[in-house]
Amino acid sequence: MMNVAIVGTGYVGLISGVCLAEVGHRVHCVDLNPKIVNNLNLAIPTIYEKGLPELLKKVVSSGNFSATNSLDLALEEADIVLIAVGTPSKDGAIDLSAIKTVCQSVGEYIKNSEKHISVVLKSTVIPSTTDTVVRNELEKFSGKTLGDFGLGMNPEFLREGNAIEDFCSPDRIIFGYEDEKTLSRLAELYKPWDVEKLEMNTRSAELLKYANNTVLATQISIINELANVSSALGGIDFEDVVKGLHLDKRWSPLDESGNRIFPEILTYLRPGCGFGGSCFPKDVQALRSQGETLGLEMAISNAVLSTNDQQPFSLVNILAKRLGGLSGKKILVLGLSFKPETDDVRESPAIKIVHGLIKENARVSAHDPIAVSNFIEEFGETASRINFCEDWRSAVESASIVVIITPWAEYLDLKNISMKDKIVFDTRAYFKKSDLEVLSYLTFGSS
Ligand code: UGA
Repeated sequence: MMNVAIVGTGYVGLISGVCLAEVGHRVHCVDLNPKIVNNLNLAIPTIYEKGLPELLKKVVSSGNFSATNSLDLALEEADIVLIAVGTPSKDGAIDLSAIKTVCQSVGEYIKNSEKHISVVLKSTVIPSTTDTVVRNELEKFSGKTLGDFGLGMNPEFLREGNAIEDFCSPDRIIFGYEDEKTLSRLAELYKPWDVEKLEMNTRSAELLKYANNTVLATQISIINELANVSSALGGIDFEDVVKGLHLDKRWSPLDESGNRIFPEILTYLRPGCGFGGSCFPKDVQALRSQGETLGLEMAISNAVLSTNDQQPFSLVNILAKRLGGLSGKKILVLGLSFKPETDDVRESPAIKIVHGLIKENARVSAHDPIAVSNFIEEFGETASRINFCEDWRSAVESASIVVIITPWAEYLDLKNISMKDKIVFDTRAYFKKSDLEVLSYLTFGSS
């Protein structure tokens, strides 16, 4: 059992906190916001995540998890402090001010303390942040040098909506470290996990995190570009193209009995309305920005981002071209969050799509099971032009075009609804054409 302080109670901090407490560590999560601290201590989750309410309740009642707004109190008990505060995008680069502020306070604590503590970054940061910015701040404010305190970087690979499962059963755990004591503390922290653990320096750990997200984002953009060629040329069934592509054994190998394995990675090689969320867009931008600062062209990152920026609008263009304009057309948008099982709308393609439809003077209705209020906040003033509906099934009846953006499970019920007089644009190819009774079924790649 270790004593762990975690600074920041967003996705990464809170999920790490409850999962580490669940395996028996004593965790203090630190947040400046007293409302968040109060709620967490009452076992009320401050973010929406599958399985979190139950797990939080369990670890709060076991006494292994508590929240506080006193960093010093949490550090007093801790052998290791994990920093998981936000690194928002600022003109494409990442803003390290929250990390610096935490490092200053941790540095001051180290200055006045006899004990040795390891400071480990969990936030996503551009390569070289830990061994330069973080180290410098800690040394400056503690008046001590690396060795008097430990330094590490332990990136997280959680997917929203699947975060607890991803933390409990990760593909690998990365121990980025700058000193042996921190390495052994990381090993102790993750002892309960029986998975591959890779040791490397902090820069490599930082780049690995970006490599992971950038390669996935690149897959999404290249398949979208191919789909756009298919749509523009016409006469192609892009589903057949995708199926054939996936059957290359390098993507989907055969197991010992000759059965095809279809790895999850293939879902990133299906066309759609583009990637969103708080990670892919921000991470590709931050990597591009760092590369450019280093004098590199970053041509692929640029292309990945510009294809992604345009993809939502290509839906609007396809519909407008097909119908000779969208003015007055009744369009129902199903799903607003950037993916199912989350109420997060950050960088959701739905935002651009709805803006595009409104600009074309379409009459837009929209539904999402849980993301409507976040969407309204993010969308801005023109949200008043959208008719948000709770009963999407009756909204389907009055629409002439249905655009499926987020593949929430409840929309599978569309299979049981007659849409003989409607155009359906299934942006995620969630259905097969034959599943739905429609006038026209469109996907990215279809003509
Ligand atoms: C992503 C990574 O998948 C995680 O491994 C990583 O830890 C996380 O970022 C992070 O850096 O914190 P997340 O943003 O939660 O996780 O979501 P994904 O499920 O990967 O989806 C990202 C975007 O890609 C979404 O807009 C999604 O709709 C899109 N996507 C995803 C597709 O367009 N196609 C797919 O097949 C999968």
